[in-house]
Amino acid sequence: MYELNALEAKSLFQKGKKMTEMLIDKIEPVTTAGLQQTPGIETYVPAGGQPVLHCENIEKVYGSRGNITRALDGISFNVNKGEYVAIMGASGSGKTTLLNCISSIDRVTSGHIYVAGRDITNLRSKQLSQFRRDDLGFIFQDSNILDTLTAYENIALALTIKKVPHREIEMRVAAVAEHLSITDTLKKFPYQLSGGQKQRVAAARAIITNPSLVLADEPTGALDSKSAKMLLESFDMLNKNLLATILMVTHDSFAASYTKRVIFIQDGKIFTELVRGDQSRKEFFNRIIEVVSFLGGENNDVL
Ligand SMILES: Nc1ncnc2c1ncn2[C@@H]1O[C@H](COP(=O)(O)OP(=O)(O)O)[C@@H](O)[C@H]1O
Ligand SMILES: [Mg+2]
Repeated sequence: MYELNALEAKSLFQKGKKMTEMLIDKIEPVTTAGLQQTPGIETYVPAGGQPVLHCENIEKVYGSRGNITRALDGISFNVNKGEYVAIMGASGSGKTTLLNCISSIDRVTSGHIYVAGRDITNLRSKQLSQFRRDDLGFIFQDSNILDTLTAYENIALALTIKKVPHREIEMRVAAVAEHLSITDTLKKFPYQLSGGQKQRVAAARAIITNPSLVLADEPTGALDSKSAKMLLESFDMLNKNLLATILMVTHDSFAASYTKRVIFIQDGKIFTELVRGDQSRKEFFNRIIEVVSFLGGENNDVL
């Protein structure tokens, strides 16, 4: 985490709309320096750059002899800094297991997961909670924001806990809220917000700490189509303007079509991946539903 001194804070404040971009410039680059000296923590440094997330042949087996489910069966992929990636797959294909392993809620049976260069599969509990707090942002299907706090307090909470100076918290919340068009809702309590507004508050909360990786599990699952569209546009904005690296699990081809790359999983293995490239969202959507129907799911329903 960076610390602004009073002078820097003042000049950032005066620069108004440029503020967010300047804050981004202050974000520490993803680095493995230091980690290599920490005993017991393996560091993965790929040639020619560093992915924010590197999954290496991960397996997850549930149950014991005679009654085994191989939920993840040798999954390897990278997500690079600034990418926006969707994971799709039929019900039971392993999406939630994969996300839970990446977020360290669940442990892999074998393989390694590196986030910002650090192997998280062998961290102890104190390091794990630190990892979740510092490196990850979460957005769930149900926004999970706290009913007794205002939108502002919900977004600010992680920074308050870290004892970030009030003035800086105010600036950062204001900047993120403006990007997500929720400035007017900051003084409101969750019961005064629509489902879509709550999800955007949750998105602001996830991004406010400048995490290495934002993980979203079916974030549009409980929203009507108009709110879903607004949330997806917000994610797009977080990715483009705030340079957030986002990995989203979704069963929804429409939601996936907002991302830049879709990884399809089937029976715990990577089936294929689609890269959007220069295509429009609509063209990408059409390619996604082709794969979805090939996999035997019905769009927006079974998958
Ligand atoms: N805690 C668990 N114990 C046993 N089997 C599980 C557990 N969690 C998931 N599974 C099994 O692992 C497979 C993948 O599940 P899951 O990751 O939830 O799939 P998805 O999220 O794609 O629907 C399924 O066959 C599921 O039944
Ligand atoms: Mg699931």
